[in-house]
Amino acid sequence: MKALILAGGSGVRFRPFTYWLPKQLMPVANRPVLEYAIGNVRDLGVAEVGVVVGEWEDAIRDALGDGARHGLRITYLRQERPLGLAHAVRLARPFLGGDDFVMYLGDNLLPDGVAAAAEEFRGRRPAAQLLLRRVPAPSEFGVAEVDPGGVVRGLVEKPARPRSDLAVIGVYFFTAAIHKATEAIEPSARGELEITDAIQWLIDRGAGVLAHEYHGFWQDVGRVEDLLAGNRRLLTGLRPAVAGRVDAASRLRGRVVVGRGARVVRSHIEGPVIIGPGTLVEDSRIGAATSVGRDCVVRAAELSDSVVLDGARVEAVRGLRESVIGQHATVRPVHDDQPGRRRFAGDRARTGSPFASQRSGGNHD
Ligand code: G1P
Repeated sequence: MKALILAGGSGVRFRPFTYWLPKQLMPVANRPVLEYAIGNVRDLGVAEVGVVVGEWEDAIRDALGDGARHGLRITYLRQERPLGLAHAVRLARPFLGGDDFVMYLGDNLLPDGVAAAAEEFRGRRPAAQLLLRRVPAPSEFGVAEVDPGGVVRGLVEKPARPRSDLAVIGVYFFTAAIHKATEAIEPSARGELEITDAIQWLIDRGAGVLAHEYHGFWQDVGRVEDLLAGNRRLLTGLRPAVAGRVDAASRLRGRVVVGRGARVVRSHIEGPVIIGPGTLVEDSRIGAATSVGRDCVVRAAELSDSVVLDGARVEAVRGLRESVIGQHATVRPVHDDQPGRRRFAGDRARTGSPFASQRSGGNHD
């Protein structure tokens, strides 16, 4: 089996951060979202991975390299324009050949892995197998209708009136039968070749499309809220390790990672918290569910339940929570600052602006 990981989208809903970094490289517990996808396909014993990239190709190549670090081989496949998931499968056809493959959307986080679904697919080899999850707001996703025997009868992309609460998770298993379907379908109303249409084409021709209901944690990381939810979940599995220096006036409680070359001075850290390499935490309190990237400065600050990207500075700000601070941004107090306020500081932003207003996202746990 091969893997096709899709990382071509830009992440419009994730602005301002995705002006500087594609959503697939946003950090969760200090590792890019995409690395978790790579880890999950490697755990299936897959050695050949195609990564579909768009305008962010260089950044993604820098982050993943040739795959050797993860024990697999990566082939980059360029998609010039975001013309849909089925279009990505079309362009990957020479790479995929006649092999079975798992298609994995690079912004989907599934820290519990997909091994059981893969086993089922390998055992039964339907033309397609979908991972489904019951969600409160199905119209934000592809929605499946499934008969009591687990056979998928119909699929609709983001329907206004969903006919079930079963959302399609971004991990799909296919045999080579999908290629005929991606060649046969026409672009949708939004001008994309939809994978849901390709799968529906298979269903209409009597091919077997099976459902696998997924019960692990799943987060589609498209918005700030999603990133924070994913970060909270990933940090629960943190193994404490202190490679940097913690002075005698500091206290670490719970699961805390202090990266190499990082320093914790006169500060209290209440885990789970990860402090990246080379970061300075001084005269500060860092509360649970916080990830601080590499080479940051957190000084005289108080923050919790947040993600701070590489090279950011957070200074003299109290009660920061549920915030995302962009790469190399500087956050300092503003005169009307309220304790406990939330911040979304875009990359390289100063004093915490611009603030992005965000729709609240769903945690599908
Ligand atoms: C895509 C798929 C959708 C699926 C979702 C899962 O939507 O088109 O069917 O439910 O991923 O993450 P997108 O998030 O790209 O809009």
